[in-house]
Amino acid sequence: MGNQERISMGEIIGVVSGKGGVGKTTVTACLGAALSHAGHRVLLCDGDFGLRDLDLVLGVADEIIYDALDASEDKEYTDDAIVSIAENLDFLPASQSARWEDIGRKKYKKLVRRLCDVYDYILIDAPAGIGKGIESILDLVNRCIVVTHPLWVSLRNGARMIQVCEEHNIRDFAIVFNAVPTDGEDLDLYDMLEVLRAEYVGAMIPYDEDVLTYTQDGHLLDLVSHEFCNVLAPLLDYIVTGDCWEDYDVQKQFDAYVAKKKAATEKQGTPTLATAGESIFEDSNNVLYINRGGWTTQRLLVQGKQSLWRRRKLK
Ligand SMILES: Nc1ncnc2c1ncn2[C@@H]1O[C@H](COP(=O)(O)OP(=O)(O)O)[C@@H](O)[C@H]1O
Ligand SMILES: [Mg+2]
Repeated sequence: MGNQERISMGEIIGVVSGKGGVGKTTVTACLGAALSHAGHRVLLCDGDFGLRDLDLVLGVADEIIYDALDASEDKEYTDDAIVSIAENLDFLPASQSARWEDIGRKKYKKLVRRLCDVYDYILIDAPAGIGKGIESILDLVNRCIVVTHPLWVSLRNGARMIQVCEEHNIRDFAIVFNAVPTDGEDLDLYDMLEVLRAEYVGAMIPYDEDVLTYTQDGHLLDLVSHEFCNVLAPLLDYIVTGDCWEDYDVQKQFDAYVAKKKAATEKQGTPTLATAGESIFEDSNNVLYINRGGWTTQRLLVQGKQSLWRRRKLK
């Protein structure tokens, strides 16, 4: 069955790049979380056979007993291989030992197509490079999200990847510029699109240390319930409606995120009123602390009764 002849309900979308380390896995996980929050049933597939890592990012590495290889060899294993991540969000791990060259690729495609009956969206986190893995994934998908860094070397790989997509008759794709510097030192959006010979921007995702911290802790999906989901909004719309935002609207969304983040960082140094979820306590030296939901403990020196929040909260 060609990728034009989709007969089942769900849609299969590839997250590809050509180059490694540009954020395919990160984008797959965050986008899956955002789509499932919006009420869509989503399956995330790790398409990186032999080098899987989406399980780590999703924080379920210890829960995997069976994987996509078992399920494609014997469909009885399908339910055992699929790991539930959250409401509306499931995960199908790749095999850790077998590579794309070693597996029955037709059987894998059959498995994923069968799962279209159960999910609204199946996102496949593709491997780097343009080998057998990417070929099989491109035979399977309806659309692609091409992830790139805003750097020449990554853009050239992205441009090549778009060519490969077109060779597989995939002409519906959106570009995600990931890890975009927030200090204005990045390349111009329009220049980058020209290099890629692409028209549509799916999203501009800033470089954000939080991505690294949350990933390291195995809690990347939590990031999507924060401000971060705003930068994914254009991509979400592309997935659901098929239309991309205007370039300048994507840029505006990115700028707004950066401005908010900057303001929040500056504010961190200033004492603030305690809000819901925060606790206040005092040590033996009359030094007051605010504990914000367990994330940060900010030390505040408060002078006597003049402090508004001291009067309100501690009397
Ligand atoms: N927007 C971002 N800001 C900061 N770090 C990021 C961002 N996106 C990805 N990363 C980090 O970059 C590294 C590579 O990302 P990953 O998603 O694994 O790339 P790929 O799947 O393309 O190889 C990871 O350590 C990830 O946490
Ligand atoms: Mg990856």
